[in-house]
Amino acid sequence: MKKIIILTAMTKKFIIGYYEKLPWNIPEEIEHFKQITTEKIIIVGRKTYLSMNVESLRNRQFIIVSYSGLLLEDVLKLTKLKDDITVIGGSEIYKQTLQFATHAIISIMNTNYMGDVFFPNFNIYEWHIDCIENRNRFYVLQISKIGVSVM
Ligand SMILES: NC(=O)c1ccc[n+]([C@@H]2O[C@H](COP(=O)([O-])OP(=O)(O)OC[C@H]3O[C@@H](n4cnc5c(N)ncnc54)[C@H](OP(=O)(O)O)[C@@H]3O)[C@@H](O)[C@H]2O)c1
Repeated sequence: MKKIIILTAMTKKFIIGYYEKLPWNIPEEIEHFKQITTEKIIIVGRKTYLSMNVESLRNRQFIIVSYSGLLLEDVLKLTKLKDDITVIGGSEIYKQTLQFATHAIISIMNTNYMGDVFFPNFNIYEWHIDCIENRNRFYVLQISKIGVSVM
């Protein structure tokens, strides 16, 4: 099994989006996103994809899921045995992928922001904390699912 990595950024109240966009504009967090996703295969929901400035995000392969196009469940089946994949949201996609995820990289904002989209509930006891880094305006928490071995 290869890694299925959830990549997200949230407030301490699990807010991830506001009016179809990110609630914040933090260049260092965008750089972090770019660094993690460069040369990677990325799964993204149709709504999140449309909200992104993809011109600035070359050198990565986006797989955009939509009920009128590629289904998430089919993409997960196809990519299972080949490469690591990074799942970049949004909320609907995280909700359906959490059960399959092996790792998560979570930026946690130091400040509160207003929002209307939330990261789904998940059971933190299923996860092991691998690393926490302070990046000034946010923390980066890296966790892996307990009991899952990855090649
Ligand atoms: N802070 C963060 O890290 C972060 C990351 C990502 C997104 N966001 C924010 O989250 C918000 C968007 O999230 P969202 O939950 O509203 O939308 P989303 O998850 O980005 O996209 C939802 C769309 O994905 C498609 N979809 C969902 N499940 C599917 C499945 N099983 N198979 C195929 N297609 C499927 C559907 O597209 P169709 O309608 O075309 O069928 C659905 O409308 C925005 O505010 C965005 O900025 C934040």
